[in-house]
Amino acid sequence: MNCSEGCDCKIALASDHAGFGLKEIIKEHLSVRGVTTVDLGTDSTQSVDYPDFARKVCESILAGSSNRGILLCGTGLGMSMMANRYKGIRGALCHDHFTARAARSHNDSNVLVLGGRILGIDLAKDIVDTWLDTPFEGGRHEGRVMKFDE
Ligand code: RB5
Repeated sequence: MNCSEGCDCKIALASDHAGFGLKEIIKEHLSVRGVTTVDLGTDSTQSVDYPDFARKVCESILAGSSNRGILLCGTGLGMSMMANRYKGIRGALCHDHFTARAARSHNDSNVLVLGGRILGIDLAKDIVDTWLDTPFEGGRHEGRVMKFDE
């Protein structure tokens, strides 16, 4: 059991070149935490197009191959824009604990998006932990979240 949903969470990870360095750090952090990850690229700092990597993570979640995802690009903006085009994906760009907590408790986010050119390493790790550990509150938030996909 390694996430707020009480399951053995499998997290799909992907980044573009600008998020690559932080992706590797977050992957190691999750491994130390005992969280299973599947790394869907990219594999270097060579320039790539972030929508291609957002797609891989979203399709992995929607196919049931992973429970949640983490996407990283330079700002997190492009990745979150792309991820939120997929019905069933609730991508949350978080730069602090407050939004990381609310992204789970209010929005039932299933994809965390981070800005590799914005966040320090320790803050990024803490945001990931907060996002993983915070349960969805349900209640009044349930109907609101369901409206995303109506
Ligand atoms: C790449 O230069 C940069 O545009 C990308 O990583 C991301 O920040 C886009 O939103």
